Amino acid sequence: MKNHESSIAPLLRGLYLHNAGRSVVVLQGKQQIKSDFQIDMQEAFRDGVYNEVLAAKSAAEACASWLFERAPSGAEALQANQRPLSLPSCVNVQTDSGLEAYWVDWDLDNCRKRIHAEDTSALEIPFAYKRIGTETKAATDIYQTLLQNRSRFAEGKIALVTGGAQGFGEELVRGLIAAGALVFIADLNGEGAAALAERLNTQYGKTVALPAVCNVADEESVRDLFSHIEQQVGGLDICISNAGVLKAGSVLDQDLGAFKLVTDVNYIAFFLVTKYAARLMRLQAMTAGDWYTDIVQINSKSGLEGSNKNGAYAGSKFGGIGLVQSFAMELVDYRIKVNAICPGNFFDGPLWSDPEKGLFVQYLAAGKVPGAKTVADVRAFYEAKVPMKRGCTGPDVLKALFYIIEQEYETGQAVPVTGGQVMLH
Ligand SMILES: NC(=O)c1ccc[n+]([C@@H]2O[C@H](COP(=O)([O-])OP(=O)(O)OC[C@H]3O[C@@H](n4cnc5c(N)ncnc54)[C@H](O)[C@@H]3O)[C@@H](O)[C@H]2O)c1
Repeated sequence: MKNHESSIAPLLRGLYLHNAGRSVVVLQGKQQIKSDFQIDMQEAFRDGVYNEVLAAKSAAEACASWLFERAPSGAEALQANQRPLSLPSCVNVQTDSGLEAYWVDWDLDNCRKRIHAEDTSALEIPFAYKRIGTETKAATDIYQTLLQNRSRFAEGKIALVTGGAQGFGEELVRGLIAAGALVFIADLNGEGAAALAERLNTQYGKTVALPAVCNVADEESVRDLFSHIEQQVGGLDICISNAGVLKAGSVLDQDLGAFKLVTDVNYIAFFLVTKYAARLMRLQAMTAGDWYTDIVQINSKSGLEGSNKNGAYAGSKFGGIGLVQSFAMELVDYRIKVNAICPGNFFDGPLWSDPEKGLFVQYLAAGKVPGAKTVADVRAFYEAKVPMKRGCTGPDVLKALFYIIEQEYETGQAVPVTGGQVMLH
């Protein structure tokens, strides 16, 4: 449909994030349709080379001249009457190859319906989402915002969870959807991702989850995943790099293949996921004003202290923290925050509790816990190591995630969620 490799949808999405203060989906329509709202981007294609900075400039200039009322900020918003503000739902973009129609809505299903019905009626911004600039925020308003549930900050956002088909990933998918996000579930286990997405879409009666097959350790697969996301919804707000593997083994005899697999999936894949997520988020940021996005690595308590006979895993997780800190320094320029969450052991998840392959049965069989006769004995042994006497759960991790998303004054951090088992120094 387009002969430029450029990505116009994220630039458009940025405009809406900036002007509505609320997440949207942006889809390119399959057929041309005339809209009253136009952006002439031909300037950005001068000499046959696409220039994204010029494209962003054209988009911002055109948007400023559209006839919608810009959402007020600060005290203005608090005093404003409840009349909804509106934005166009269909925008024409003139590129070097002709007119392209992009459709916008708060909701993916509604956006698809609009395209089908060629419904160009205005998109109204509910009062609750009017932008409130920090500079003029009244004190009472600040406290009201703090009192609201943190999960509100994920509402309507577009999220990706790698390794989302089971375990902590599934917990994060479920929690984000409960908070009102639209979530891509990317997993090597495509069937598992599709089955979970279908269950959740049925449960909510609308599209809340979109499955994708991806090997996060393979660059082409990761590149395809992010171009798929761009085509499906136009951008991304929250990228959770969660997929991970554990192959325990002594340094005296672990084979190189096992060591490399752990390094590939836990360490190198975080570089690949960040590389393509940040490219998409950076484009969006060119027009998105002060809208922040998040890249979050699900790390581990083993990224904060060594793990006996588990060096491949701990090394890959320690390395992940180095990447988080370094990427955070660079990407802050595009208002992309990069942080890690370091959970303790998820005893209820499949890694530990799978009745055939889980660590509890493996440790019982290997006699790793002296005197343990049952799986329950092994579990009790590990729970006793935690000052709070229990394993980490999905909701524990979600609380840290919602904190990270809400907090717009922190990046490059590793947030422990270990029940006191690992303390920062
Ligand atoms: N389970 C724990 O106790 C625990 C503790 C701390 C941190 N973590 C971390 O949490 C994350 C999730 O762990 P979990 O225990 O839920 O794992 P899990 O094994 O239950 O699930 C991992 C998911 O990732 C997918 N996956 C594996 N390799 C992949 C690849 N190359 N590309 C795409 N998807 C892939 C799997 O198919 C699976 O769906 C990992 O990063 C892990 O290191 C786990």
